[in-house]
Amino acid sequence: MKVGILGGGQLGRMLLQEAANYPVTVHVMEKDPTCPASKLCHQFIVGDITNYDDVINFGKDLDAITIEIENVNIEALFELEKKGCKVYPTPTALSIIKNKIQQKEFYKKHSIPSPAFHIVNDREALKEHAAFLPAVNKLAMGGYDGKGVQILKEAKELDLGFDAPSILEKMITIEKELAIIVAIANDGTTAIYPPVEMVFDQRLNLLDYQICPANIDNKTLWKAEAIAITVARNLESAGIFAVEMFTDKEGNVLVNETAPRVHNSGHHTIEAHYSSQFDMLWRIIMDYPLGNTNKIMSSVMINLLGEDGYSGKTYYEGLNEVLSIPNAFVHLYGKEESKSGRKMGHATILSDDKQELLHQANKIKHTLKVKGEKK
Ligand SMILES: Nc1ncnc2c1ncn2[C@@H]1O[C@H](COP(=O)(O)OP(=O)(O)O)[C@@H](O)[C@H]1O
Ligand SMILES: [Mg+2]
Repeated sequence: MKVGILGGGQLGRMLLQEAANYPVTVHVMEKDPTCPASKLCHQFIVGDITNYDDVINFGKDLDAITIEIENVNIEALFELEKKGCKVYPTPTALSIIKNKIQQKEFYKKHSIPSPAFHIVNDREALKEHAAFLPAVNKLAMGGYDGKGVQILKEAKELDLGFDAPSILEKMITIEKELAIIVAIANDGTTAIYPPVEMVFDQRLNLLDYQICPANIDNKTLWKAEAIAITVARNLESAGIFAVEMFTDKEGNVLVNETAPRVHNSGHHTIEAHYSSQFDMLWRIIMDYPLGNTNKIMSSVMINLLGEDGYSGKTYYEGLNEVLSIPNAFVHLYGKEESKSGRKMGHATILSDDKQELLHQANKIKHTLKVKGEKK
């Protein structure tokens, strides 16, 4: 089989690591030839994944195509799908997710619990909703990793809102942030991974560390699982879906957002689960049976972000020390330039002893540093 990945970041790179196990030739397209996935694929094409012609040319001889980022040219994917190329997720599912307005309307249509919201067209329109604050303003298109999300606590902050189509979402007093990954095969068979619980870096609005399984009661678990499956099924597409959710003090589970692709919240599945999210996507694309989503051990995953105040040629500190920890696994994405807050790698630590797990996770966080030096 010949399969293409749009985007050459770390998700593409980790997909390629698993692809090596299967009879598949993988092509990657991305603008930057030094991107993390470029050295691991069979064929690298320099091109713009948001450009119609580039995506058509890339996909015209492929059996299937998948994405590692939502910001791709959907019109081209519709056209390729028409010509018989299988697209994961379907362009229809992708177009619902890609636009936060459509995504929120999708939840509403399918009675999927999600924070209340208004649709706004520009900053002027935003100002009519002072009474709705505190709220979170989210760009309809193009946001990622906290870019495109603005917290608006009170009316005088409305100027900070986006001057573009966006949603204004009720601010939730979050108890926990959970994510569940759902796999859907071409024949509709589903498999679900255990929920992870995410702890965020408040300042950067980026995932700090994540523990699996989440520390939640059974009732919350069942709600979260039912919601995640409902979201994924109603998108009517095969693929991998990561459903991010909030719980609040009242025991409600609300959907925050969904990614129709492999996701940061599934990195731990590489070592901690029998079949990883990356392995699973190849099984789906190649029409093999779905893998086993059970955990082998409990885990914590830590994103390795470029250290503050260091930008330039990437170097690592503490690698030897962390690699000497039993059951610690390090993934470096091979990005040549480190910048503060940039996702440069991740580490996963496995243990069924909760104290040990958190202790080692903390140690990793404080030992392993990714920095950049001026050239
Ligand atoms: N309605 C909300 N109430 C409170 N916090 C929110 C809300 N929506 C988002 N957040 C916070 O902002 C973070 C980023 O928002 P999200 O919509 O997931 O955007 P991104 O695309 O950057 O991941 C969330 O993980 C959560 O911590
Ligand atoms: Mg998010």
